[in-house]
Amino acid sequence: MDLRIKQLLDIASFSKEEIEEFLNLAENLKEILYRPIPKVPTLRGKLIVHLFYEPSTRTRFSFEKAAKTLSADTLTFTGKGTSIEKGETLLDTIKNLEAIGANLFVIRHPMAGAPHFIAKYSKVPVVNAGDGTHEHPTQALLDLLTVKEKLNTLSDLKVAIIGDIKHSRVAHSDILAFQKMGSNVYVAGPAQLLPDPKEEDYYKISKNGFKVCYKLEEALRDADVIITLRIQKERHEEVLIPSFLEYHEFFGLKPKHLELIKDKAILMHPGPINWGVELAYEMEKYPFQVILDQVENGVAIRMAVLLKLLTNEKGYESFN
Ligand code: CP
Repeated sequence: MDLRIKQLLDIASFSKEEIEEFLNLAENLKEILYRPIPKVPTLRGKLIVHLFYEPSTRTRFSFEKAAKTLSADTLTFTGKGTSIEKGETLLDTIKNLEAIGANLFVIRHPMAGAPHFIAKYSKVPVVNAGDGTHEHPTQALLDLLTVKEKLNTLSDLKVAIIGDIKHSRVAHSDILAFQKMGSNVYVAGPAQLLPDPKEEDYYKISKNGFKVCYKLEEALRDADVIITLRIQKERHEEVLIPSFLEYHEFFGLKPKHLELIKDKAILMHPGPINWGVELAYEMEKYPFQVILDQVENGVAIRMAVLLKLLTNEKGYESFN
């Protein structure tokens, strides 16, 4: 199979086989990160431009680490101190950065669809690093990689995603990604933070693959994977929850919930975490939480994405 992938804009447009290619490549590349000198020359001479129009810790720095591990040059643009402050448009910014020599854009933007807009006009590959409430495809890939490593499978799992589903781009990518790999996704949260009933058909891409739950316990019962999410308050146009305290009371994950889930279940969170809101403080000490493993896998996944888009590498050779 020769899958020539030019862009990574969303999980929706990727097949199971294409997702597996990214995961296999990331698994091959991860070993580089443990070498005494974790660096290979594969992308020497390539210029990767990171456009972060929104704050980020994990995504931004793991993309930078991935690029540097592959010996690419990087420029990071956060809007501050650039001609955006003088009114330059996104399109003009892209054209100018291409003229400077960009070989690939990684973009995070508050507007859903911004990476798709850039991809339409850009001559070089574009990677969506999170666009508004739409999608965060590299987060879904690193979540899949983490589950595959920890549970040895991505099929026939019950994946519970808890929290602000409606406004979470991570949820939107994960719901599609886990179903594409053959698992079932149950989402739970306050009704006003769940997808509108008219959106449910979009998210249900396999028979029985997606279920909206109004009670936390229904989603958690016999779950293999629990993904908790931050309340995306910055994206709420009105007051949607009475208080974080009340949210924690009804939907925060606490030690008492452990009896509902499977013995080998894992707990995930894309970060940033608001301890005491979506997760009780006590959850930090439980070994079934794999939150920093997700962050580590973010570097390997982003190495795979950069390599695939810049070289169409299939990943079965060793990298020296
Ligand atoms: N998971 C994630 O996107 O985190 P950042 O916002 O810190 O990049």
